Amino acid sequence: MEVFRSIKDIKEHLSQLKKEKHSIGFVPTMGALHEGHLSLVSNAKQENSKVVVSIFVNPTQFNREEDLLKYPNREEEDLKMLNEVGCNIVFIPTKEGIYPSGVNTYTTFSFGSLEQIMEGKYRKGHFHGVALIVSKLFHIIQPDTAYFGQKDLQQYLIIKSLVNDLSFPLTLRCCSTVREESGLALSSRNLRLTNQERKVASNIYKQLTLAKNNILEKPETFKKPKSINTLKKSIINSLKQLETPVIVEYIEFFNLEKMELCQTISKPISVAICIAAIVNEVRLIDNLFIGDKII
Ligand code: PAF
Repeated sequence: MEVFRSIKDIKEHLSQLKKEKHSIGFVPTMGALHEGHLSLVSNAKQENSKVVVSIFVNPTQFNREEDLLKYPNREEEDLKMLNEVGCNIVFIPTKEGIYPSGVNTYTTFSFGSLEQIMEGKYRKGHFHGVALIVSKLFHIIQPDTAYFGQKDLQQYLIIKSLVNDLSFPLTLRCCSTVREESGLALSSRNLRLTNQERKVASNIYKQLTLAKNNILEKPETFKKPKSINTLKKSIINSLKQLETPVIVEYIEFFNLEKMELCQTISKPISVAICIAAIVNEVRLIDNLFIGDKII
């Protein structure tokens, strides 16, 4: 496994690999890797002859300075894990390399209605930062295929529109969320939870599963906004009443066909139920597809 920190060096190396007709799978990360990231790497390995993973804690996507400061740096452990799963190339750029003129760029990204909801609504400017770094990384790496996790569903949909709108010549894959045995979605933020808090946090997945089953069992009930609102309230209350309260920031139903939030559900169902909730100051997100997945 080779590690590059210079943009010039990795570009030279990748251009040689492309001359040799290698296909490049790319997994962008911010480090503090877990099994979720490793499953993206193994998906990339199955479909490409070389896999590149980037590790860069991107300052422009944090809207709260304290979140950026608290973000774990585990480079040594990350490199060990990547080596073990057979990653070929790791790219660890410096902040100065990525943002030579500073983080306040003239170019800004906005994604209209897609970013005025859920994560975009609660984390102002977050998707500008994500689109900025992902565009830069796509230009540097020029992958054939890039891999993202379903846990960050809205991020995936934003990047999909970025790739379409700016004609990036690559394919995107959205890979299933990897979960702990309890159902808790793997996240670098889980490192900040105690064992007891992790157990409590697994109720997020349990509630999403209950809601999904409820909808699939009696879909006709959810043609009315009242039923969706009652369901949302019941999830919010159940999570709030746990021994460590899980405070819901938002819970929304997102129509994957119309690409907008929905207040009712009708057949054919193609909806994602999306949640952000806080467990003792740690903000977690998750989602489940209901019906036929079309992304
Ligand atoms: O999902 C992440 O870890 C980040 O948002 C990404 C895509 C690596 C961009 O910094």
